[in-house]
Amino acid sequence: MTAKYEVHGSVAVITLENPPVNGLGHATRVGITDGLQKAHADSTVKSIVLTGAGKAFSGGADIKEFGSPKALAEPNLLSVILALENSSKPVVAAVHSVCMGGGLELALGCHYRIAAPDCSVALPEVKLGLIPGAGGTQRLPRALGVEPALNMIVSGEPVKSELLAQIPGQKLFDKMAASAESLAEEALAFAQAISDTRPLPLVRNLPCKHPNGDAYFQFARNMVKGMAKNFPAPGKCVDAVESATKKKFDDGMAFEREIFTALMFTPESRALRHIFMAERAASKIPDVPQDTPQRDIQSIAVIGAGTMGGGIAMNFLNAGIPVKMLEMKQEALDKGIGIIRKNYESQVKRGKLKQDKYEQRMSLLSTTLSYDDLKDADMVIEAVFEEMGVKEKVFKELDRVMKPGAILASNTSTLDVNVIASFTKRPQDVVGMHFFSPANVMKLLEVIRGEKTAKDVLATVMAVSKKIRKTAVVSGVCDGFIGNRMIEQYGRQGGFLLDEGCTPAQVDKAMEKFGMAMGPFRMGDLAGNDIGWAIRKRRHTEKPGMKYSKTADLLCEKGRFGQKTGAGWYDYVPGKRDAVPNAEVIKMIEDHRTSLGITPRKISDEEIVQRLVYALVNEAAHILEEGIASKASDIDMVYLMGYGFPIYRGGPMNYADQVGLFNVVQSMQRFAQNPLDDAAFWQPAPLLAKLAAEGKTFN
Ligand code: NAI
Repeated sequence: MTAKYEVHGSVAVITLENPPVNGLGHATRVGITDGLQKAHADSTVKSIVLTGAGKAFSGGADIKEFGSPKALAEPNLLSVILALENSSKPVVAAVHSVCMGGGLELALGCHYRIAAPDCSVALPEVKLGLIPGAGGTQRLPRALGVEPALNMIVSGEPVKSELLAQIPGQKLFDKMAASAESLAEEALAFAQAISDTRPLPLVRNLPCKHPNGDAYFQFARNMVKGMAKNFPAPGKCVDAVESATKKKFDDGMAFEREIFTALMFTPESRALRHIFMAERAASKIPDVPQDTPQRDIQSIAVIGAGTMGGGIAMNFLNAGIPVKMLEMKQEALDKGIGIIRKNYESQVKRGKLKQDKYEQRMSLLSTTLSYDDLKDADMVIEAVFEEMGVKEKVFKELDRVMKPGAILASNTSTLDVNVIASFTKRPQDVVGMHFFSPANVMKLLEVIRGEKTAKDVLATVMAVSKKIRKTAVVSGVCDGFIGNRMIEQYGRQGGFLLDEGCTPAQVDKAMEKFGMAMGPFRMGDLAGNDIGWAIRKRRHTEKPGMKYSKTADLLCEKGRFGQKTGAGWYDYVPGKRDAVPNAEVIKMIEDHRTSLGITPRKISDEEIVQRLVYALVNEAAHILEEGIASKASDIDMVYLMGYGFPIYRGGPMNYADQVGLFNVVQSMQRFAQNPLDDAAFWQPAPLLAKLAAEGKTFN
């Protein structure tokens, strides 16, 4: 049982006890209905208080039950709420700290509500592509007023209890407690005071009208359409709340249920629920127990004040953690610090950062030219040139000066972390921390686990990444780690598409229509086409027979490296990011095609999307099979957080699951027949072939 039952004088108190946030799982729901029965059976009980133990009244549905039949098992949330409404003895919800989703719906089913100040109140279902499904869309507008309720339901954002209590005419809270500490006592007193009041008030009986309903809901719909392009749920929130103003309560409830059930099966809601779980799963490493002791990280050192070093340092300064930066020369340090300052100053100018916060952050930053000054740092992150020789020098120095137990991290994007670790006498303390550019903005962090990386180092790095608000995903050591290893295959396939008849703009448009933040050629221009060029040169010495399109090499030979040179696949006007197609580049692609004797064909957007996305998926299946990623959902997180994969598709693996792996493999087999493509490229990874044959999914 996860609810406690006690009697204080004439008041029964039912306390939800399901840490961390009193999720309304089956056992908790049973606890509530059992408590109600006991209270009714006891003639000395005149009224009932429903509250939550610990850090929440209730955070809503129990995520452990997500999508399982247990979530619907009786008593389900709807029947618990009915039982509360039908109680012949008054029930007072005493809400505090967190009152969200099903938790708020539960409170709305009680006869009275008393709230502590500073309680976060929300109906966040829209963030999972749903609408509230246990009366929230019907009761909240009645209790709070149509406009504030719709605002809360469409945004999903929490509002503080004391602000809600100030809304004129609101019936959400009958009383505000003086403080969280006095809530229990005040709730008992309140319950005693109203114990004889009859008839018992019910939110369902409150009127629900909007004076200019038609215009208001039309306006709301227009607003929502612009904001939530690819998601149906926000528009459905408007429909459901409108129905509260137009239908009888029970009909409105039925309408809400109908919408809720339909949304549960939409790919968008599935994707959002998948991401919700994937984000939590990413922080769990299968063989590193959650209670692994962590190392204490109070200060950071960063080696190299270049593009990455500066951004990395800012993450820690933003989190209030002191950073010491080391460079080879004072000028390099000055330049790096200058860029950090400029970054913060622009935030201050845009009103995103207060001046005193900026100064406070800068005061946490110090610099040095000497390794000996780093000896007290708890963790060091290296971001120097991407050359093994340079990394070797740096790590030997770090091994010499850093205190025992300090974590030595490298931000390398391509080099072998095991080799880097071997430059030290403490490979167990060495780990990769692969930030993405700009490092102070991008959410993704790939944590590279070396062969000898200690478990407590991993646990610490995962905790530190949470502190600096990154989504960390663990990757094993391989060329490109998870994200860039996959993107290489995506880029290769993009090249074949150009050779066969596409223009860069056609490919980019198709991928952007699919939802990618940027198509592959615009992305290449942003990242720098020279990076891919260098990788291809290396790759073709390693695997001389590998088929690839030479078009990107021809582009680089012209010095068109992308935005940084003002020209790449597209032209760029200085200071602007708009990609303008360039006639010379298109001619270069056509000439190359002619030189290969290829007659261009019209390629559909559907084929472009399939070839590029399945290129990602097949490489990902190899990555999963090799154990480089421990879960498919980690790969999804990498692509969602670091590569602009559309959120509403839930990542490449989730997308492939939804298409059906059997269908994915069939398309791959079709592409393998194309003589201008590469049959070896489309050989399904054994794991993909196996799952497809068994009718299974990655996630
Ligand atoms: P960068 O060239 O902008 O900066 C490197 C800095 O390191 C320079 O300021 C240089 O003076 C300094 N440096 C070089 N050798 C040093 C030494 N021995 N001691 C102290 N400082 C030294 O390079 P960037 O782009 O910041 O890259 C740094 C690292 O981050 C590389 O390993 C790179 O692969 C990785 N990386 C880069 C990404 C990017 O998009 N630029 C993304 C993810 C990782």
